Amino acid sequence: MSSPSEVLIGNPEMVNRLPYTYAVLKETLRLYPPANGMREGLPGVFIRDKHGPSFPAEGFHIWVVHTAVQRNPSSLTRPHDFIPDRWLVDPGHPLYPPAGGWRPFEHGPRNFIGQNISLMAVKATLALVVRQFDFHDAYAEYDAIHPLKKNEINTLFNERAFMIQKGVVHPAQGFPCKVTLCDAK
Ligand code: HEM
Repeated sequence: MSSPSEVLIGNPEMVNRLPYTYAVLKETLRLYPPANGMREGLPGVFIRDKHGPSFPAEGFHIWVVHTAVQRNPSSLTRPHDFIPDRWLVDPGHPLYPPAGGWRPFEHGPRNFIGQNISLMAVKATLALVVRQFDFHDAYAEYDAIHPLKKNEINTLFNERAFMIQKGVVHPAQGFPCKVTLCDAK
């Protein structure tokens, strides 16, 4: 049987025919966005809550916190759950994501120009590694060596793997894990 890399090298267009892999990738970037958005407030621009007051943006930088937008319980069904199918359902389905609610590359005319090439690279990488390797978290071993310090947290939204700011964002505690070859089972 051909390996995933042989299949992709022979049929590179297949990278555009991986709907479930793409849905997994989109859902991962929804829950764990690696960047944020920053915009300069201009005269006459106001930040408005649809139910609340409005604030002038002039003279401020506006930080768009992707985690908050992409896990917003008022616009998403089961916002903290990993559900790739929300990217495969039709409009009108309860899981269907809200417009403008997925913005790991930001949104609109000034969004990240490299978005498509990044997504293609991650899709191809996923397609090549997931059939070959198993990933198991190694928190038990990690905790035995690194006991929790005072005021330190090790879960967020009940998840052990979460993102922290370290220049750009990184998985907290570096996501300790063990990787095994699938064939080695
Ligand atoms: C999954 C991967 C990536 C994500 C989620 C991401 C996300 C973003 C976001 C949100 C912005 C800000 C866009 C805005 O202000 O509206 C940005 C800008 C930028 N990204 Fe990425 N990025 C990714 C991968 C990369 C890679 C691989 C490179 C370089 C090889 C890169 C280089 C840049 C640069 C240079 C800018 C600044 C562009 C500008 O100011 O006009 N990014 N990215």
